[in-house]
Amino acid sequence: MEINRIGVVGCGLMGTGIAEVCARAGYDVVVTEANDELLQKGLTRLRDSLNKAVARGKATQEQSDQALAHLHGTLDLADFAACDLAIEAVVENMAVKKELFARLDQILPPHAILASNTSSLCITEMASVTQRGSQVLGIHFFNPVPVMPLIEFVRTILTSDETMAAVYQFGASLGKTMVTAKDTPGFIVNRLLIPYVLDAVRVYEQGLATKEDIDTAIKLGLNHPMGPLTLLDFVGLDTCLFIADAMFDEYKDERYAAPPLLRRMVLAGQLGRKAGRGFYDYR
Ligand code: CAA
Ligand code: NAD
Repeated sequence: MEINRIGVVGCGLMGTGIAEVCARAGYDVVVTEANDELLQKGLTRLRDSLNKAVARGKATQEQSDQALAHLHGTLDLADFAACDLAIEAVVENMAVKKELFARLDQILPPHAILASNTSSLCITEMASVTQRGSQVLGIHFFNPVPVMPLIEFVRTILTSDETMAAVYQFGASLGKTMVTAKDTPGFIVNRLLIPYVLDAVRVYEQGLATKEDIDTAIKLGLNHPMGPLTLLDFVGLDTCLFIADAMFDEYKDERYAAPPLLRRMVLAGQLGRKAGRGFYDYR
């Protein structure tokens, strides 16, 4: 199965990065958003990222121009009719993702692969609303997508060998390293990451140390690129809360229970870097 044209749904933090790496690898990419304002905002972020790649010597101006020529923004999901692979990167909400999967199943050609970039949700449940279970899987990219070298594939009991072979070829063409996990909440990375970042909020909430000292301790004591509270701001507090709630819902394990402070910060609109404020102020 050959992948030439890719559809990306959602042009937020992750959709932008996924569209960028696919266009840079030479795929024709069509990307959609909930409305034109969000689409334009996402495309601007994508152009900024390409400019940064050129400035850092990671891409030439010509490669950047070529990537933009491969990219097409749309508000009409019908424009996905010629896609060989569709990847959704919309909000971490099962109802929204299932509605989208059912619509995409009607629009995509019969051979196309349908993937979710979900951080935690059940891929089999998304596959259940389609007629193409053998061509459904999780393709979990990491933030920031152009920089992070990993893709975690999430294979369900329905996903076929042909689908896995096609996506391994796709991932290799992006220059990523790939791992495969079973369809269980959080897969590999978030199964381990989420209890850690939630614990960091608990430690802060309990007044054990300042947020700066918690982050500095982990950064310098463990050689992590970011401390956990900075990382939460980077990922998005809303996204982390959705992930934690989804994982707690399945495991009923208190390690995945969202600390009250996290929920209240999300309710207060302190969603992290993308909102200008989270644990830290970015304005
Ligand atoms: N395209 C290509 N390369 C780029 C780029 C772009 N748009 N932007 C930056 N880069 C490159 C830079 O050139 C640089 O490369 P070199 O080291 O070779 O020069 C590298 O990326 C780092 O960039 P910066 O110097 O600008 O930034 P930094 O050193 O401050 O690092 C960071 C930024 C990569 C985000 C780093 O802080 C980091 O790794 N943080 C942790 C990120 C993380 O853990 N992500 C996973 C989140 S969890 C997740 O994603 C899963 C989920 O489901 C929630
Ligand atoms: P985000 O909030 O930045 O972006 C989501 C975008 O989807 C929003 O711009 C929203 O307008 C759009 N959207 C919602 N419904 C839509 C629809 N029906 N059609 C088109 N667009 C729609 O979120 P994000 O951080 O990009 O996360 C997206 C997905 O990727 C989530 O499932 C999340 O769990 C996962 N993920 C996030 C990270 C991260 O670090 N933020 C990492 C890996 C995976």
